[in-house]
Amino acid sequence: MMSLLLDEIALAALRLADAGVQSPRADAELIAASVHNVRRGELHTVPDSDFDGRFWADIARRAAREPLQHITGRAHFRYLALDVGPGVFVPRPETEVMTGWAIDKLREMDVAAPVVTDLGTGSGAIALAIAQEVPRARVHAVEADPLARAWAERNITTCVESVPYTAGRVMLHAGDFCDALGELDGTVDLVISNPPYIPVGAYVEPEVGEYDPPAALWSGTDGLNAIRTVERTARRLLRPEGLVAVEHGAPQGAAVYWVFPEESGWRDTRNHKDLAGRDRFVTAAWARPLEAGEGA
Ligand SMILES: C[S@@+](CC[C@H](N)C(=O)[O-])C[C@H]1O[C@@H](n2cnc3c(N)ncnc32)[C@H](O)[C@@H]1O
Repeated sequence: MMSLLLDEIALAALRLADAGVQSPRADAELIAASVHNVRRGELHTVPDSDFDGRFWADIARRAAREPLQHITGRAHFRYLALDVGPGVFVPRPETEVMTGWAIDKLREMDVAAPVVTDLGTGSGAIALAIAQEVPRARVHAVEADPLARAWAERNITTCVESVPYTAGRVMLHAGDFCDALGELDGTVDLVISNPPYIPVGAYVEPEVGEYDPPAALWSGTDGLNAIRTVERTARRLLRPEGLVAVEHGAPQGAAVYWVFPEESGWRDTRNHKDLAGRDRFVTAAWARPLEAGEGA
Protein backbone atom coordinates (compact mmCIF):
# COMPACT_ATOMS: atom_id res chain seq x y z
CA MET A 1 0.00 0.00 0.00
CA MET A 2 1.48 3.38 -0.95
CA SER A 3 1.24 6.44 1.22
CA LEU A 4 2.76 9.90 1.25
CA LEU A 5 5.19 8.84 3.98
CA LEU A 6 6.37 5.76 2.06
CA ASP A 7 6.93 7.94 -1.05
CA GLU A 8 8.94 10.44 1.01
CA ILE A 9 10.99 7.62 2.55
CA ALA A 10 11.90 6.35 -0.94
CA LEU A 11 13.09 9.84 -1.95
CA ALA A 12 14.95 10.30 1.32
CA ALA A 13 16.74 6.96 0.87
CA LEU A 14 18.05 8.19 -2.51
CA ARG A 15 19.28 11.40 -0.89
CA LEU A 16 21.04 9.49 1.89
CA ALA A 17 22.63 7.10 -0.62
CA ASP A 18 23.98 10.10 -2.57
CA ALA A 19 25.45 11.43 0.69
CA GLY A 20 27.38 8.17 1.22
CA VAL A 21 25.25 6.81 4.08
CA GLN A 22 25.80 3.04 4.26
CA SER A 23 22.23 1.90 5.04
CA PRO A 24 20.10 4.63 3.41
CA ARG A 25 16.73 2.87 3.31
CA ALA A 26 16.93 1.58 6.88
CA ASP A 27 18.02 4.99 8.18
CA ALA A 28 15.22 6.80 6.31
CA GLU A 29 12.68 4.36 7.76
CA LEU A 30 14.06 4.65 11.29
CA ILE A 31 14.03 8.46 11.12
CA ALA A 32 10.44 8.38 9.79
CA ALA A 33 9.42 6.04 12.60
CA SER A 34 11.05 8.24 15.24
CA VAL A 35 9.49 11.47 13.89
CA HIS A 36 6.02 9.93 13.61
CA ASN A 37 6.32 8.02 16.88
CA VAL A 38 5.49 4.60 15.40
CA ARG A 39 7.41 1.35 15.04
CA ARG A 40 9.30 0.78 11.81
CA GLY A 41 6.80 -1.93 10.80
CA GLU A 42 3.89 0.50 11.25
CA LEU A 43 5.04 3.23 8.84
CA HIS A 44 2.33 2.29 6.31
CA THR A 45 -0.33 3.13 8.91
CA VAL A 46 0.59 6.84 9.16
CA PRO A 47 -2.19 8.83 7.40
CA ASP A 48 -1.05 11.31 4.72
CA SER A 49 -2.57 14.11 6.81
CA ASP A 50 -0.19 13.25 9.68
CA PHE A 51 2.99 13.62 7.60
CA ASP A 52 5.42 15.64 9.72
CA GLY A 53 7.84 18.03 7.98
CA ARG A 54 10.45 17.39 10.69
CA PHE A 55 11.17 14.21 8.72
CA TRP A 56 13.03 16.20 6.05
CA ALA A 57 14.88 18.29 8.64
CA ASP A 58 16.17 15.07 10.22
CA ILE A 59 17.02 13.57 6.82
CA ALA A 60 19.13 16.68 6.13
CA ARG A 61 21.04 16.06 9.38
CA ARG A 62 21.65 12.44 8.43
CA ALA A 63 22.74 13.48 4.92
CA ALA A 64 25.31 15.73 6.65
CA ARG A 65 26.51 12.46 8.29
CA GLU A 66 25.27 13.09 11.81
CA PRO A 67 24.81 9.64 13.41
CA LEU A 68 21.31 8.20 13.22
CA GLN A 69 21.34 7.64 16.98
CA HIS A 70 22.08 11.33 17.70
CA ILE A 71 19.11 12.28 15.53
CA THR A 72 16.66 9.85 17.13
CA GLY A 73 18.32 10.24 20.57
CA ARG A 74 18.26 6.48 21.06
CA ALA A 75 20.64 3.55 20.64
CA HIS A 76 19.45 -0.03 20.96
CA PHE A 77 21.81 -2.43 22.72
CA ARG A 78 20.69 -6.00 23.39
CA TYR A 79 17.36 -5.55 25.29
CA LEU A 80 17.98 -1.90 26.16
CA ALA A 81 17.07 1.43 24.54
CA LEU A 82 19.72 3.89 25.72
CA ASP A 83 19.74 7.69 25.56
CA VAL A 84 22.72 8.97 23.57
CA GLY A 85 23.86 12.25 22.10
CA PRO A 86 26.81 14.64 21.96
CA GLY A 87 29.59 13.67 24.38
CA VAL A 88 29.06 9.92 24.48
CA PHE A 89 30.13 7.01 22.29
CA VAL A 90 27.23 5.37 20.42
CA PRO A 91 27.15 1.67 21.42
CA ARG A 92 27.78 -0.70 18.50
CA PRO A 93 26.36 -4.12 17.55
CA GLU A 94 29.89 -5.63 17.70
CA THR A 95 29.94 -4.93 21.43
CA GLU A 96 26.67 -6.82 21.88
CA VAL A 97 28.47 -10.03 20.86
CA MET A 98 31.24 -9.59 23.46
CA THR A 99 28.65 -8.68 26.10
CA GLY A 100 26.72 -11.84 25.22
CA TRP A 101 29.88 -13.91 25.78
CA ALA A 102 30.32 -12.33 29.22
CA ILE A 103 26.66 -12.91 30.12
CA ASP A 104 26.91 -16.60 29.18
CA LYS A 105 30.07 -17.02 31.28
CA LEU A 106 28.53 -15.23 34.28
CA ARG A 107 25.47 -17.48 34.13
CA GLU A 108 27.75 -20.56 34.09
CA MET A 109 29.85 -19.36 37.05
CA ASP A 110 29.30 -21.10 40.36
CA VAL A 111 29.30 -17.75 42.21
CA ALA A 112 26.31 -16.45 44.17
CA ALA A 113 26.67 -12.76 43.25
CA PRO A 114 29.37 -12.26 40.61
CA VAL A 115 31.30 -8.98 40.69
CA VAL A 116 31.91 -7.39 37.28
CA THR A 117 33.82 -4.29 36.19
CA ASP A 118 33.09 -2.43 32.94
CA LEU A 119 36.15 -0.28 32.19
CA GLY A 120 35.24 2.80 30.10
CA THR A 121 31.47 2.45 30.35
CA GLY A 122 30.42 5.39 28.10
CA SER A 123 26.61 5.28 27.94
CA GLY A 124 26.59 2.38 30.41
CA ALA A 125 25.59 -0.07 27.68
CA ILE A 126 27.67 -3.09 28.74
CA ALA A 127 27.16 -2.59 32.47
CA LEU A 128 23.39 -2.19 32.16
CA ALA A 129 22.98 -5.14 29.80
CA ILE A 130 24.84 -7.38 32.25
CA ALA A 131 22.79 -6.10 35.20
CA GLN A 132 19.59 -6.74 33.26
CA GLU A 133 20.51 -10.19 31.95
CA VAL A 134 22.38 -11.54 34.98
CA PRO A 135 20.18 -10.43 37.88
CA ARG A 136 22.65 -11.75 40.50
CA ALA A 137 25.57 -9.65 39.19
CA ARG A 138 26.92 -6.42 40.69
CA VAL A 139 28.57 -4.24 38.08
CA HIS A 140 31.13 -1.49 38.75
CA ALA A 141 31.27 0.86 35.75
CA VAL A 142 34.28 3.19 35.41
CA GLU A 143 34.32 6.28 33.20
CA ALA A 144 36.86 9.13 33.08
CA ASP A 145 34.92 11.58 30.88
CA PRO A 146 32.35 13.70 32.79
CA LEU A 147 30.13 14.21 29.72
CA ALA A 148 29.95 10.47 29.05
CA ARG A 149 29.35 9.83 32.74
CA ALA A 150 26.32 12.12 32.69
CA TRP A 151 24.79 9.98 29.92
CA ALA A 152 25.58 6.81 31.90
CA GLU A 153 23.90 8.26 35.00
CA ARG A 154 20.82 9.11 32.98
CA ASN A 155 20.66 5.61 31.46
CA ILE A 156 21.12 3.95 34.85
CA THR A 157 18.19 5.99 36.22
CA THR A 158 15.97 5.14 33.25
CA CYS A 159 16.92 1.49 33.38
CA VAL A 160 16.06 1.22 37.08
CA GLU A 161 12.63 2.73 36.31
CA SER A 162 11.87 0.19 33.59
CA VAL A 163 13.81 -2.80 35.01
CA PRO A 164 13.48 -2.34 38.81
CA TYR A 165 15.63 -5.34 39.74
CA THR A 166 18.71 -3.53 38.36
CA ALA A 167 18.42 -0.97 41.22
CA GLY A 168 21.62 -0.68 43.23
CA ARG A 169 23.47 -3.20 41.07
CA VAL A 170 25.26 -0.80 38.68
CA MET A 171 27.73 1.41 40.50
CA LEU A 172 29.18 4.27 38.44
CA HIS A 173 32.71 5.40 39.35
CA ALA A 174 34.50 8.52 38.10
CA GLY A 175 38.15 7.98 37.26
CA ASP A 176 40.86 6.48 35.11
CA PHE A 177 40.61 2.71 34.71
CA CYS A 178 44.38 2.58 35.11
CA ASP A 179 44.12 2.90 38.90
CA ALA A 180 40.37 2.60 39.57
CA LEU A 181 38.62 0.32 42.06
CA GLY A 182 41.64 -0.58 44.20
CA GLU A 183 39.22 -1.73 46.91
CA LEU A 184 38.19 -4.61 44.61
CA ASP A 185 41.73 -5.86 43.89
CA GLY A 186 41.84 -9.67 43.65
CA THR A 187 38.06 -10.09 44.05
CA VAL A 188 36.49 -9.45 40.63
CA ASP A 189 34.91 -12.35 38.73
CA LEU A 190 34.85 -10.74 35.28
CA VAL A 191 36.47 -7.65 33.77
CA ILE A 192 34.98 -6.40 30.50
CA SER A 193 36.00 -3.41 28.41
CA ASN A 194 35.41 -1.79 25.06
CA PRO A 195 38.26 0.71 25.32
CA PRO A 196 39.44 3.18 22.67
CA TYR A 197 41.46 1.20 20.11
CA ILE A 198 41.84 3.17 16.87
CA PRO A 199 45.44 4.00 15.84
CA VAL A 200 45.99 7.76 15.80
CA GLY A 201 45.66 9.03 12.22
CA ALA A 202 43.59 6.08 10.90
CA TYR A 203 40.63 6.91 8.63
CA VAL A 204 37.20 6.82 10.25
CA GLU A 205 33.76 7.63 8.80
CA PRO A 206 32.46 11.18 9.45
CA GLU A 207 29.80 9.85 11.87
CA VAL A 208 32.64 8.52 14.02
CA GLY A 209 35.35 11.18 13.67
CA GLU A 210 33.04 14.17 14.06
CA TYR A 211 30.60 12.87 16.67
CA ASP A 212 32.07 10.11 18.87
CA PRO A 213 34.23 11.68 21.63
CA PRO A 214 37.98 11.55 20.85
CA ALA A 215 38.64 9.84 24.21
CA ALA A 216 36.45 6.95 23.03
CA LEU A 217 38.38 6.43 19.80
CA TRP A 218 42.11 7.06 19.69
CA SER A 219 44.77 5.08 21.52
CA GLY A 220 48.35 5.64 20.39
CA THR A 221 50.12 4.79 17.16
CA ASP A 222 49.15 1.09 17.17
CA GLY A 223 45.78 1.62 18.84
CA LEU A 224 46.73 -0.70 21.71
CA ASN A 225 47.67 1.70 24.53
CA ALA A 226 44.32 1.49 26.34
CA ILE A 227 44.10 -2.28 25.82
CA ARG A 228 47.52 -2.69 27.48
CA THR A 229 46.24 -0.60 30.41
CA VAL A 230 43.10 -2.73 30.64
CA GLU A 231 45.31 -5.86 30.75
CA ARG A 232 47.30 -4.49 33.71
CA THR A 233 44.13 -3.42 35.51
CA ALA A 234 42.49 -6.81 34.90
CA ARG A 235 45.54 -8.58 36.41
CA ARG A 236 45.13 -6.46 39.51
CA LEU A 237 41.34 -6.78 39.84
CA LEU A 238 40.63 -10.42 38.98
CA ARG A 239 40.43 -13.25 41.48
CA PRO A 240 42.13 -16.52 40.48
CA GLU A 241 40.16 -18.07 37.54
CA GLY A 242 38.41 -14.75 36.90
CA LEU A 243 37.76 -13.83 33.26
CA VAL A 244 38.56 -10.86 31.04
CA ALA A 245 36.96 -9.79 27.74
CA VAL A 246 38.31 -6.86 25.70
CA GLU A 247 37.07 -5.52 22.37
CA HIS A 248 39.55 -4.47 19.68
CA GLY A 249 39.74 -3.48 16.02
CA ALA A 250 39.42 -6.13 13.29
CA PRO A 251 43.11 -5.95 12.22
CA GLN A 252 44.37 -6.17 15.83
CA GLY A 253 43.40 -9.79 16.61
CA ALA A 254 46.93 -11.26 16.46
CA ALA A 255 48.55 -8.35 18.30
CA VAL A 256 45.96 -8.29 21.08
CA TYR A 257 46.33 -12.05 21.62
CA TRP A 258 49.91 -11.40 22.75
CA VAL A 259 48.84 -8.71 25.22
CA PHE A 260 47.47 -11.63 27.31
CA PRO A 261 50.39 -14.13 27.41
CA GLU A 262 50.88 -17.11 29.75
CA GLU A 263 54.07 -15.56 31.11
CA SER A 264 52.00 -12.74 32.60
CA GLY A 265 49.62 -15.17 34.27
CA TRP A 266 46.92 -15.57 31.61
CA ARG A 267 45.60 -18.86 30.26
CA ASP A 268 43.04 -19.91 27.64
CA THR A 269 43.62 -16.68 25.69
CA ARG A 270 41.22 -16.78 22.72
CA ASN A 271 40.27 -14.57 19.79
CA HIS A 272 36.56 -14.16 19.00
CA LYS A 273 34.80 -12.87 15.89
CA ASP A 274 31.95 -10.40 15.44
CA LEU A 275 28.78 -11.05 13.41
CA ALA A 276 30.62 -10.07 10.22
CA GLY A 277 33.28 -12.75 10.87
CA ARG A 278 36.05 -10.26 11.78
CA ASP A 279 38.34 -10.61 14.80
CA ARG A 280 36.65 -8.44 17.42
CA PHE A 281 37.42 -9.39 21.02
CA VAL A 282 39.87 -11.34 23.11
CA THR A 283 39.15 -13.31 26.27
CA ALA A 284 41.42 -14.92 28.84
CA ALA A 285 41.35 -16.43 32.32
CA TRP A 286 43.52 -15.18 35.16
CA ALA A 287 45.84 -17.81 36.65
CA ARG A 288 49.07 -16.29 37.99
CA PRO A 289 52.48 -15.44 36.53
CA LEU A 290 54.86 -18.37 35.91
CA GLU A 291 57.63 -18.71 38.52
CA ALA A 292 61.24 -18.89 37.29
CA GLY A 293 61.88 -22.36 35.77
CA GLU A 294 58.15 -23.24 35.67
CA GLY A 295 56.76 -24.32 32.30
CA ALA A 296 60.29 -25.00 30.94
C1 LIG B 1 34.83 2.98 22.85
S1 LIG B 1 34.04 3.82 24.18
C2 LIG B 1 33.03 2.49 24.79
C3 LIG B 1 31.86 2.92 25.60
C4 LIG B 1 30.92 1.77 26.01
N1 LIG B 1 31.60 0.83 26.87
C5 LIG B 1 30.39 1.06 24.80
O1 LIG B 1 30.83 -0.05 24.51
O2 LIG B 1 29.51 1.62 24.13
C6 LIG B 1 35.37 3.91 25.36
C7 LIG B 1 35.02 4.67 26.66
O3 LIG B 1 36.16 4.59 27.54
C8 LIG B 1 36.36 5.86 28.15
N2 LIG B 1 37.79 5.89 28.53
C9 LIG B 1 38.85 5.96 27.70
N3 LIG B 1 40.00 5.92 28.38
C10 LIG B 1 39.64 5.80 29.70
C11 LIG B 1 40.38 5.68 30.92
N4 LIG B 1 41.73 5.67 30.91
N5 LIG B 1 39.71 5.55 32.08
C12 LIG B 1 38.35 5.56 32.09
N6 LIG B 1 37.58 5.67 30.97
C13 LIG B 1 38.22 5.78 29.79
C14 LIG B 1 35.97 6.86 27.09
O4 LIG B 1 35.68 8.12 27.64
C15 LIG B 1 34.77 6.17 26.45
O5 LIG B 1 33.58 6.52 27.09
